[in-house]
Amino acid sequence: MARLPKTCVLRICSAAGLVVLIPLTGLAQSTLEPDDYQSERNLVPGPAKPAEDPLGPRRHFRVPNPANISDQDAQKAYEDVVQGMARGYAVSDDPSAKTYTRWKRYNMAPYLSAGHGRRFLNTYGNAIAKNYGKYEAAGRFPVGSILAKDSIAITEDGKVNPGPLFLMEKMAEGFNHVSGDWKYSMIMPDGSVFGVTNGTSSQKVEFCIACHLAAEKTDHLHFLPKRLRVTE
Ligand code: HEC
Repeated sequence: MARLPKTCVLRICSAAGLVVLIPLTGLAQSTLEPDDYQSERNLVPGPAKPAEDPLGPRRHFRVPNPANISDQDAQKAYEDVVQGMARGYAVSDDPSAKTYTRWKRYNMAPYLSAGHGRRFLNTYGNAIAKNYGKYEAAGRFPVGSILAKDSIAITEDGKVNPGPLFLMEKMAEGFNHVSGDWKYSMIMPDGSVFGVTNGTSSQKVEFCIACHLAAEKTDHLHFLPKRLRVTE
């Protein structure tokens, strides 16, 4: 611990200490690696790490060693696991988790995402969200639009592990002003519900709202890497 300056009078020190302590605590929380939660559930290979506080993750769970593979190989790895993975998500009561693989997929091959814990992702949209295919020109989405993003971790040693399913559903006006009336859900590969905006463990998915708010101009959507976009 850094020594306090000698000129520091006791009363002022404790006041300064308080001021410093608060940002430090915030920093510690924001740098937590939610991977630990995954390791705990044996979803990601690697030595077990102490579990982090799953009540307040600040960003997605991170995969430590993502594979550097071609689009084709990523697609093949995905095809091998997608049906089994979808059965896992379907254990949840979420209707989208049961049907999303039959929706339109907007990416040509799974893409590696930094925003989503360095996993390989796929983005699907239901029929109401069909304007997603216009990407940045899509405008505001109608109530009932649902976007589903499943995820796999492919590690350097070739292991493929299912990751969470991420959902955004456009709700009626007034549902949640800050989220642009999007309901965020995160469903774990075993079908357990990690969190749902204004529902089960709502606070656990607040970090989704914050990052997507940066894309407020495009109705809170971030879209896909351009080179892998499906265009009509
Ligand atoms: C650190 C920033 C960040 C956080 C936190 C985040 N996202 Fe995203 N999200 C993105 C980005 C960037 C994309 C665009 C594709 C990509 O690179 O992942 C995206 C795309 C999506 C999409 C596809 C629709 C779109 O925007 O194109 C869904 C669905 C989604 N995220 C759900 C979630 C959910 C659910 C959570 C919380 C559990 C969440 N996101 C948290 C950055 C984030």
